[in-house]
Amino acid sequence: MRKSIFDLLERKGKQPVSMLTAYDYHTACTIDEAGIDMILVGDSLGNVMLGYENTLAVTVDDMIHHGKAVVRGAKEAFVVVDMPFMSYQASVEDAVRNAGRIMKETNCQAVKLEGGVEYADRIKAIVEAGIPVVAHIGLTPQSVNAMGGYKVQGKSLEQAQKLLADAKAVEEAGAFAITLECVPEALAKMVTERSNALTIGIGASSACDGQVLVYQDMLGYNAGFVPKFVKKYADLHSVMLEAFRQYKQDCENRSFPGEGQTYSISDEVLEQLKKEETERLLFKKVI
Ligand code: KIV
Repeated sequence: MRKSIFDLLERKGKQPVSMLTAYDYHTACTIDEAGIDMILVGDSLGNVMLGYENTLAVTVDDMIHHGKAVVRGAKEAFVVVDMPFMSYQASVEDAVRNAGRIMKETNCQAVKLEGGVEYADRIKAIVEAGIPVVAHIGLTPQSVNAMGGYKVQGKSLEQAQKLLADAKAVEEAGAFAITLECVPEALAKMVTERSNALTIGIGASSACDGQVLVYQDMLGYNAGFVPKFVKKYADLHSVMLEAFRQYKQDCENRSFPGEGQTYSISDEVLEQLKKEETERLLFKKVI
C-alpha cells in the first residue's frame, strides 16, 4: 500500500524518513523496491536530466511528463512533485492552478515549492484546495541569482532569524513537511524541535526528521562536482563508462553479438531457401 501523509507524520521524533529524487519509471521502480519512503520528482531534473545550468528553465509540462513516469513506477513510496520556477511566484491563483494541474495529471501525493514567509499565502491556498504541500527553505535553487550562488544559508544572525521565521510561516500555512537545504546543524535542530512538520534535510545534518538526496549524486552517476553534503554510495559513472567502452570494442571486433545474442534458422529451411534461390537464378538466365 502506498504511504500516506499520516504514515509519514507519525514517524516524527521516532524513525527518520528516507527520500530520494527520481525522474523516470525504472529508477522509481528500483527506489520503491528498496523501500525508500518518499520520492521527489525534483526540478533538479533541469540539471541532471536535461543538462541545463540551473533549474530556472524547467516548465510545468516537464514536471508533469517526468512526474507521471515516476508515479507509474512507485507503488508504495509517497511521491512529491516540484513546482518549477514561475509556476507559483506571480500569484496565488497561478499557484493553485499549477499545483492542481500537477496533482491531477501526475497523480502524485504532494507538491513542493521553494520559499518561506513570502510564499506562505500560496502554500495556504494550495493546502486549502486539498493538495498537501512540502515547503523548501534555506538554500532555494530557484533563487540562485538573488542569492548570488549556491551557499550555506543561516550562518549569520539575520539569516538564522529569517530561516526560523520561514519555518514558522510555512508550517502555519499548512505545509506538512519542510525541506531544509544547506543549513547548519544547530539551526536544523532548532527548526526540527520547534516544528510539528517533518523536516527533510539536504545538507542540513542528521538532526532532521528525514533526508533527501539527488539520486545521481549518491550513486556517483556524474563525474563532475558534487556538494560536500553528498555521500557516494556507488561509483556508477565508472561502471557505466567501462561498460560503454567494452561495448564499443565488442562492436568493433565483432565479439558482440555472440552466439547467445543471435537467432538461428534450421539447416533444412536454409537448404531449401538456397535451392530455390539457385533455381530462380537459373530460370532468369534461360529467359
Ligand atoms: O529539485 C530537487 O532535487 C530538490 C532537492 C535538492 C531537495 O529540490
